[in-house]
Amino acid sequence: MKFFVDTADTAEIADLAATGMVDGVTTNPSLIKKSGRDIMEVTREICGLTDGPVSAEVVALDHDAMMKEAEVLRKIADNVCIKVPLTVDGLKTCKALTSEGTMVNVTLCFSANQALLAAKAGASFISPFVGRHDDNGLDGMTLIEDIRLIYDNYAFETEILVASIRHPIHVLESARIGADVGTMPPHVIRGLFKHVLTDKGLEGFLKDWKETGQNIG
Ligand code: E4P
Repeated sequence: MKFFVDTADTAEIADLAATGMVDGVTTNPSLIKKSGRDIMEVTREICGLTDGPVSAEVVALDHDAMMKEAEVLRKIADNVCIKVPLTVDGLKTCKALTSEGTMVNVTLCFSANQALLAAKAGASFISPFVGRHDDNGLDGMTLIEDIRLIYDNYAFETEILVASIRHPIHVLESARIGADVGTMPPHVIRGLFKHVLTDKGLEGFLKDWKETGQNIG
């Protein structure tokens, strides 16, 4: 399972990339706003921090205008992945861009039928939002199970990119289901390293080691 970082904070991306756990990055208009930076400048910097796909989202609503924005964004770097919303125009744009060999991430997916449409439009990635489902009293992970089943039924190559991940249990369940990618806020990736028994065990080993009076090397 690949890990993408869901942020436009370059310091966070660089720090996590050093752990070897970063396979790509996703951004959206809200994350660009949070960064306080220019989309072109920050996306270029992010593309230099990872060799993996970096999702940059169009904000136009009609197909022609989406294509124009995609043209600008994809020139930033070879690893830019154009993010389009799951609308009729978004999927038209997806089809056009993937036919030309450009990676496309279809975002704002909230149903398995929408994911089926995105796969038929040749999407490189589909982004179902599990956290926003949970926020509304629905079960986001059931959506991931349904999409996995449908994509396997027809051998679609579109990768399931679990988005709107809120906590490590979303990551565990995504891995159990066989999702291809999870995009996570930095604090969620950091949380995956933690276990109280790891901390306790390390503390005990270090205490005993000190009492041996030895040094290594
Ligand atoms: C990523 O591609 C999505 O835009 C993101 O995961 C949405 O997360 P949120 O629901 O926490 O805003």
